[in-house]
Amino acid sequence: MKKTIIAGRTVPAIGMGTWHMGEDPARRAQEIETIRTGIEAGVQVIDTAEMYGEGKAESLLGEALKTVERSRLFLISKVYPWNASKKQLPISLDKSLQRLGTEYLDLYLLHWIGSVPFEETVEAMEEAKKSGKIKNWGVSNFDTSEMKELWKVKNGKNCVVNEVLYNLGSRGIEFDLLPWMREQNLPLIAYSPLAQGDSLGNRFHEDPLLQKIAAAHQCSIEQLLLAWAIRDGKTIAIPQAGTPQHVKDNYAAGSLVLSAEEWQELAEHYPKPTTKQSLAVL
Ligand SMILES: NC(=O)c1ccc[n+]([C@@H]2O[C@H](COP(=O)([O-])OP(=O)(O)OC[C@H]3O[C@@H](n4cnc5c(N)ncnc54)[C@H](OP(=O)(O)O)[C@@H]3O)[C@@H](O)[C@H]2O)c1
Repeated sequence: MKKTIIAGRTVPAIGMGTWHMGEDPARRAQEIETIRTGIEAGVQVIDTAEMYGEGKAESLLGEALKTVERSRLFLISKVYPWNASKKQLPISLDKSLQRLGTEYLDLYLLHWIGSVPFEETVEAMEEAKKSGKIKNWGVSNFDTSEMKELWKVKNGKNCVVNEVLYNLGSRGIEFDLLPWMREQNLPLIAYSPLAQGDSLGNRFHEDPLLQKIAAAHQCSIEQLLLAWAIRDGKTIAIPQAGTPQHVKDNYAAGSLVLSAEEWQELAEHYPKPTTKQSLAVL
């Protein structure tokens, strides 16, 4: 299983996302089973946010995780930009902790950039760290110029991760953001690593090269996309799975080993950008 170091902890490079979970009562039992299956398979990193279902995803997770030893998990939640102030952040954080049924988050992220100055958000994050309610903090949907601005702020470099959209069909960050993050030794959390499944994913399903490599490894195209996303050992992918089988398959993708020739073929077929692209966001 491919591993990544994040905030000093070594974790499996395949985690789980939770967007849209907990919103449909008819799907609740299967969603809880999916989360528990993922953890049994070995998943540690779980990504959620106060935004997801306005707390419903966190509440669902809280229920699913009741029986799981807390130290086995690496729990991430995110604060809305308009709640990322010194006054509001502690309130949002307490609500997230309560819904999740935990005393601390391993990582708390600013979900995207808003109007609260970075200085203030960093101060609020540092305070939360001191209180023991979060172990570390990071950001999401930050492009290179924004990371550089954050780096200028007092304690801004205490940020331990940037979570952005990244998949085989969306390699824009490889032009400048990812190289900059590598220079700073900042790991990446790749969201939408499956290009959101059906919408873009179909394009991959029809690709003879992906079909050939997947057949050679007796794996699915989705598993190939995940293996690709985490290939550098400094990235954690957080695919969203709706079924226990999908979550098991996704975790297993962390053990796929491709040949140098296959990596080369993929790189030629899906080249990295040669010019600056605007940051892809959802
Ligand atoms: N920070 C941010 O701003 C941000 C933004 C977007 C997302 N995220 C995080 O990233 C997570 C993942 O991103 P995402 O939800 O956009 O999309 P994604 O993980 O790229 O794709 C999810 C889709 O892939 C399908 N899928 C999952 N595993 C599969 C498998 N093994 N075989 C076939 N299909 C499979 C799912 O279908 P099934 O339901 O049938 O499994 C679902 O339709 C989110 O849940 C969220 O936690 C963060």
